Formats: sequence, structure tokens, C-alpha cells
Amino acid sequence: MGESAVSKKNKMVLVTGGAGYIGSHTNKALHLKGYQTVIYDNLVYGHRENVKWGILELGDLSDQQRLEEIFQKYSIEAVIHFAAYAYVGESVHNPSKYYSNNVVNTIKLLDMMQKYKVKDIVFSSSCATYGIPSQMPITEDIQQNPVNPYGRTKWMVEQILEDYRRAYGLHYCCLRYFNAAGADPDGEIGESHDPETHLIPLILDAASGKTSSVSILGTDYPTEDGTCIRDYIHVTDLADAHIRALEYLNHGGESACFNLGNGKGESVKHVIETVKKVTGKDFLVKEEPRRPGDPPVLIGSSQKAQQALGWRPQYSEIETIIQHAWNWHQKKKF
Ligand code: UFG
Repeated sequence: MGESAVSKKNKMVLVTGGAGYIGSHTNKALHLKGYQTVIYDNLVYGHRENVKWGILELGDLSDQQRLEEIFQKYSIEAVIHFAAYAYVGESVHNPSKYYSNNVVNTIKLLDMMQKYKVKDIVFSSSCATYGIPSQMPITEDIQQNPVNPYGRTKWMVEQILEDYRRAYGLHYCCLRYFNAAGADPDGEIGESHDPETHLIPLILDAASGKTSSVSILGTDYPTEDGTCIRDYIHVTDLADAHIRALEYLNHGGESACFNLGNGKGESVKHVIETVKKVTGKDFLVKEEPRRPGDPPVLIGSSQKAQQALGWRPQYSEIETIIQHAWNWHQKKKF
């Protein structure tokens, strides 16, 4: 795409949750493209150290007064909305936390956008909105049927965005991520969750000796090696898609939802073997029962994003994704 019409002088992109994993990589990518950003984050799960670009404004989306201060202080041109809770298991045990933050607080943000006449939003959605999909690879038009509260919050927001589009002329892109993985190729930022539940960082913990083993959660799935298959997508490729979505909206593109994945799947066993190969480390691998709610296979078709956004993943090899994650993992301090 050409030069963005979003003015790079005074106008800013508001990045909610920009201190988190995908948010911070997107914030970096925005800066590399010349955008100015304001990061709105409560640092509950995000890290101050991740905000190396732009202005960090501490705050919670539930705090309307604080949010309004931000809209008054800056000339916000568009919003990229990451701020949300994202632990699937926790969402089952504490749905209130998820509906309150992911849905109710998003409505507060959308209403503030309305008030300040900000029309463009890129929303962080998930393949969790599909539930157990009826076809593979998954295309955007199949029925969404999320199987946990986390997925339902993302799906609800997608529907709210569509209602706001019809009623108020909101202009949105929903980006449905498959399994975000990897780290900034320059090693400036990376993945750091507390608690950590994601496969690749957990394997790297075992490879680095931080933990004594890694567990395969289920070896009796209907897949070739009996373990779950996922579509791992490099976080820097995700970041790039956000900028393309922003520019697509800015150029008048129609509101739409896009899958973001590599279109190929890796089994848990294969990911573990690849970590051993990339790191040169051996470690104990345990076999444990299935984790409730894990679909056997999730692979996304990103044809629509490729066509509409001109998006092409640059780091599609699982070896590269793991190498970048490992580079970061060895030096991370938080
Ligand atoms: N897994 C293990 N051992 C572990 C952790 C995970 O074998 O210790 C397996 C899981 O069973 C799964 C795969 O590794 O098959 C990937 O698990 P992650 O927790 O890394 O990722 P998920 O696929 O569960 O979650 C991702 C996103 C969520 C999103 C979900 C949709 O991180 O935000 O996809 O299903 F909701």
C-alpha cells in the first residue's frame, strides 16, 4: 500500500493493550512505518518494558473518565484494540471477569470513539470464535460457534462492531488470529505471560532448564501422531497485518473479518521435536491427558487477508518462529 493518509504529524493511533505480546509488536511495526502511537494499558498482564515506542498512558478501559482524558489529550485517528483477558481456562471458571473486561469495557471504548468521532478500529479477535470447526482449513464464512467464554467474548464483540457499523457508521476490521508465536526478529521484545500457558514458551522453559519437563496434553487425538495440530503464526506477521488493516480502512475498505494464519498445521509432538533441533537441548517430555476444550485441529485459510490486505506471512517456517522465540527467551528478564 502507498503512503498512509493517516497524518503522521499530529494524529495518533490509540493502541489499547499495547504493552502486551501482540500489541507491543504491532506498536513497534507502527513506528517503523512512521505512525505515532499512544498506548493505553493497565499493565495487569502487559509489561512496561514492552513499550519502547510511543507514549504510554496507564489506565483501565473500565475507567471512563481516564479514557476520556486520553481522547481529549490526543488527536486520535484510529484505534487498534488489543486490551482483553485471554486465558481460555480461566474464562470457563470466571466468566464474569471476561464478559466485564472483554465485552463491557469494549463497549465503553466504542462509545468513547463515537463521542470523539473516531470511526476506524482494528479489533483483536481469535480463531476461538469458531469453536470446533466443521471444515479445515477454516474460512471466515463458516459458522462461528465458540466453545468457551473467552471465544464467546470475542464473537460478541465482532457482532457488536457490526451493529455499531450499521447504526453509527463505525468502520472495523476483525483480525482472527490463529496461534500467535515467535518474537521480534531484532530481539527487542517477545512473549512473556504470567502465568504462561502457551505451548512454545513452555517448551522453551524446559529447554532452558527453568522447568524440569514439558507435558503433551493429549496423545489420543484423531491426528497422525495423536497430538493436537495448530497453525502457528509469527507475531511480526500479525503486527504487519494490523497496519495493513488500518491502511485498508483508511483507504475506505469495507468493514470485514480476516483470518490470520499460515494455512498449515504443526502437531504438538512436531513442535517439541523442532524446539529440540533449534535449541540443541534435550529435556523430559511427559504425556498427560487432554486439556478440556482443545479442538484436535485448527488451521486457518488466510486467502481473504491475502487478497484484501495484500498480506503475506514472511516468517512462515516453524523453525524460524521457534528460533526467534528462543533468541528472546534466553535474554528476557521478565
Ligand atoms: N499444549 C500442550 N502442553 C502444554 C500447553 C499446550 O500439549 O503445556 C497443547 C494444547 O493442548 C494445544 C497446543 O499445545 O493443542 C497449543 O496450545 P496453546 O495453549 O499454546 O494454544 P491454544 O491453541 O490453546 O490457544 C490459542 C490461543 C488462544 C485461543 C485458542 C483458540 O492462544 O487465545 O488458540 O483455540 F483462544
